[in-house]
Amino acid sequence: MSASFKHLFGIAQLSRQQIEHLVHLGESFIELSRRSVKKAPTLRGKTVINLFFENSTRTRTSFEIAGKRLSADVINISASTSATKKGESLLDTGETLAAMQPHVLVIRHSISGACEFLADFLPDTSIVNAGDGAHEHPTQVLTDLLTLHVQAGGVAGKTMTIVGDIAHSRVARSHLLAAQKLGYKVRLVAPKTLLPRGIEQFGCEVFHDFDAAIPGSDVLYMLRMQTERLTSNCCFPSIREYHEAYGLNAARLALAADDCRVMHPGPMNRGVEIASEVADSARSHILDQVEHGVAIRMAVLTALCGNSPESSPSPRSKRREKAESAMRAQGKLL
Ligand code: CP
Repeated sequence: MSASFKHLFGIAQLSRQQIEHLVHLGESFIELSRRSVKKAPTLRGKTVINLFFENSTRTRTSFEIAGKRLSADVINISASTSATKKGESLLDTGETLAAMQPHVLVIRHSISGACEFLADFLPDTSIVNAGDGAHEHPTQVLTDLLTLHVQAGGVAGKTMTIVGDIAHSRVARSHLLAAQKLGYKVRLVAPKTLLPRGIEQFGCEVFHDFDAAIPGSDVLYMLRMQTERLTSNCCFPSIREYHEAYGLNAARLALAADDCRVMHPGPMNRGVEIASEVADSARSHILDQVEHGVAIRMAVLTALCGNSPESSPSPRSKRREKAESAMRAQGKLL
C-alpha cells in the first residue's frame, strides 16, 4: 500500500491506514541512519526546499538530513535571510521558489493554514506542513507515533497525558486528531488560561490538577510554554509556581506506573515544564523522538516524491489564471 497524497497539511487529512503506512515506512528507515554509510538513492534527482519562517532545530535539520540521506538535493531558506525581510509576500516567495521547479516545499509558518493557502497557487509542488501557527504539526506527531510503535508496541488502547501550554500547541491538536483515528485516549492538563474553550469536543478528558491525571497514564507528554505566542504574561503566576503545579519532576513521576513513558517534542525548558532528573532519566524518550524524526521525514518525503507528477509543469499563464481565480474566490486582491 502507498500513502498516496500530494501534500501533507496535517493529521486531519490522513486515514488510519495512511498513518500506519508512514509509521511502518519510517521504521524501515531507522536502520539506514544507524549504518556507517547513511545513503540510499530513493530521491536521486529530486529537489526539496525547506522554507522556515519560524525558528527550528529538530524539524528543519531532520528534513535536511532525511532528504540528503535519500540523495535528494536539499536547500534551506530561513525567513531571516530571505527576501521576505525586504517585504516580499508569502505568495510571491512561494511562487518564486516554485518557479525553480522543486518537488517538495517544506514550510514552517506562524500563520495557521499558510501551507494550504500556498498549495492553491503552486499546483506542481508538493507542500509539507512543518508546523503552522497553533494549527498542526503532523510530522512531529508521526514521529511520536513511530517512537511509541518501536518502544511500546504502539498506541492503541493507551492513554497519553499532554501537559502544559495546550492553547498554543499544534502538537497537542495533531495528537487529538491522531488519537481519534488510532484509538488512543488523550488527557489534557493545563491551567484554565492555557486551555482553549471547547477542547472537550475532541473527545479528550480535561484536568487542571496534574497529580490527578497521572494514575492510568501510559505516556506523560510535556509541552513547552510558548512564550513567543503569549499576548500577556499573566497566564500563570510565575515560573516557579507553574513548575510546582505543572512541571514533571521525580516526585511527581513516582505517581505514575513503572512503565509510564516521558516524551517532549522539544525544545525543552528545563526547570519549567520538566526537571533535568526526569528529562535525562531512563523513562525519557526525548532523544528517541529526535532520532525517529529523521526516519519519519524520510518516510514522508518518499511518500510524496513517489507520487509527484513527472509530467511537464503547468504553464505559468495557467498557474496565474488558477491563482487569480482562487484569489477572487477568497476575496483577496492580487
Ligand atoms: N519539535 C519541534 O518542532 O522542534 P523544533 O522547533 O526545533 O523544530
